[in-house]
Amino acid sequence: MPAPVHLFDHPLVQHKLTLLRRKQTCTAEFRSLLGELSMLMTHDLTRHLPLREVEIQTPLAPARGRLIEGKKLVFVPVLRAGLGLLDGMLAVIPNARVGHIGLYRDETTLKPVQYYLRLPEGMPARDAIVVDPMLATGNSAVAALDLVKAAQPRSLRLVCLVSCPEGLANLRARHPDVPVYTAAIDERLNERSYILPGLGDAGDRYFGTRA
Ligand code: URA
Repeated sequence: MPAPVHLFDHPLVQHKLTLLRRKQTCTAEFRSLLGELSMLMTHDLTRHLPLREVEIQTPLAPARGRLIEGKKLVFVPVLRAGLGLLDGMLAVIPNARVGHIGLYRDETTLKPVQYYLRLPEGMPARDAIVVDPMLATGNSAVAALDLVKAAQPRSLRLVCLVSCPEGLANLRARHPDVPVYTAAIDERLNERSYILPGLGDAGDRYFGTRA
């Protein structure tokens, strides 16, 4: 039985995703919406984190409270578009560690080519979250999960903003044990392997690299 696909169905997520998708959304608005979306998604994504009881002192009295247990989380954005979600995630969890995976899509073979990998130390004691906003063919996400899995994190999840049936099927075949979190499962891929209706090229829209 493969791990579940979790849909971020909160009304705020769906509202902001719709604004983000629109063709007329400018670069500045795209950035701020993506930041807001990533904060909302991180809130949901970290629901499972274990807590430990602690004793604290408020200005008025001793109290018992709960803090997140264990070593710091690791976010692993897949460059370049994954960076668009990182600031929002760090706004919610400022102490998280960050790894980077550089992959580009060879436009002829559509296969991912790795050009960078840097993960924090102590991965076996950490929960890792791979961040790739668009799950299209799924090839980059599969390659990114291969690389992070090799470092043996305590747990591993994938978060993507928009996915599609083809990408999810690829992922389920290659990494059935990894839970996937997404805000939308779109219709299909086009002949250039872009998601339809999707939102276009997430990296270009976030970095403003295309007119
Ligand atoms: N990458 C994107 O940015 N958008 C797509 O639709 C597919 C891959």
